[in-house]
Amino acid sequence: MYRGNSLINIGICGLGRVGKSILRHLYESESRNVKVVAIKEHNSLSYSNEEYVRNMAYLLRDDSIYGKFPAEVNSEGCNILINNEKIPVLLDSYINQVDWKKYNVDVIIEASGNLKNIKYVRKCLGDSVKKAIITRGTDEADITLIHGVNESKYNKKKHNVISVSTCTGNAFAPIANFVDSNYKILAGFVSTIHPVLSDEKMLDGSHKVFALGKSFRNIKVVDTSVVKSTIEVLPHLENKLHLESVSYRVPTDIVSAVHAIIKVKNPPSKDEFCRKISDVRGNLKDIIGTTKGFHGQPFVSSEFLLSKYSGIIDLNWFSITDNLLRLHIWHDNEYGYVSRVIDTLKIL
Ligand SMILES: NC(=O)c1ccc[n+]([C@@H]2O[C@H](COP(=O)([O-])OP(=O)(O)OC[C@H]3O[C@@H](n4cnc5c(N)ncnc54)[C@H](OP(=O)(O)O)[C@@H]3O)[C@@H](O)[C@H]2O)c1
Repeated sequence: MYRGNSLINIGICGLGRVGKSILRHLYESESRNVKVVAIKEHNSLSYSNEEYVRNMAYLLRDDSIYGKFPAEVNSEGCNILINNEKIPVLLDSYINQVDWKKYNVDVIIEASGNLKNIKYVRKCLGDSVKKAIITRGTDEADITLIHGVNESKYNKKKHNVISVSTCTGNAFAPIANFVDSNYKILAGFVSTIHPVLSDEKMLDGSHKVFALGKSFRNIKVVDTSVVKSTIEVLPHLENKLHLESVSYRVPTDIVSAVHAIIKVKNPPSKDEFCRKISDVRGNLKDIIGTTKGFHGQPFVSSEFLLSKYSGIIDLNWFSITDNLLRLHIWHDNEYGYVSRVIDTLKIL
């Protein structure tokens, strides 16, 4: 039997963009209290499982966006080796078919996005697995936590399946909460500018959301759940923020932005807002960042790569007219988001 000797043993389901970013974050921060002891993937190709795991190691070792993994990566049979430590890769079809107990997994992180895995995640809870974290919004969760808004609502006895919401929800909700608490939100439109995701097509092909099946080189306008995610943790904003928000999918590979036009009851002056938001403390300190760029010039998306903030307000683009506020918020949709997944592990 494999025996991890750390405080919390983690099993990751899905080693795609988010799964790999979680591993990277853990190794970069040299976390001693958390150890990944099993990875569940599925062999979607027609070669052997060993070859599939070799391919996974290849992708993990050198990432096209983040570069070299912060530890030695290799593979041996159906194991990924990180600094020569074996992490078994389990290639069963669904999450509930894995014998998590065999690997002493305490917490599962569901990062495949597969709806069946999410549906079955609760079945994995038992003698070994005590908690599961889901890296998207879902009704299957006992609670949705967005740090900087409602993480204090976590109740160890009641909440076993925890959703960490969406990346854009994490970027926007803490800032919406700040604006509402200080200036009272009356109404608002929210849009996102989002890079390509793994399920989009290189060339035209079929996709459940037709526009996403068009070549990634287009700018595509599609629905997004940024307001739905926000309202889930700030229900009093329902009927104020317009639910039908759109996402502009753009042909970049990382860093997202949220653009919001918000009507408030008590508009601040620009100076007051900038001062207050730049000076957030307590549970917002590591969540909301601000930037003024460099030499008075704004940064561009790639400059926010590897940022651990949930959302960074670009003060260059903040403006007020009457009682309308315009906000431009940057976030690394992978690294910023997984920083909150790790924060969630800490509060468990
Ligand atoms: N990317 C982001 O910016 C971001 C941010 C926040 C939250 N999320 C959420 O996180 C989840 C994962 O997103 P992602 O961008 O990381 O997607 P992704 O890159 O497609 O990764 C998903 C991984 O899970 C694997 N997988 C699919 N079905 C599986 C199964 N039954 N068992 C085990 N593994 C399976 C996929 O393998 P195959 O590719 O072989 O199918 C892939 O390696 C989604 O719910 C997404 O909404 C994503």
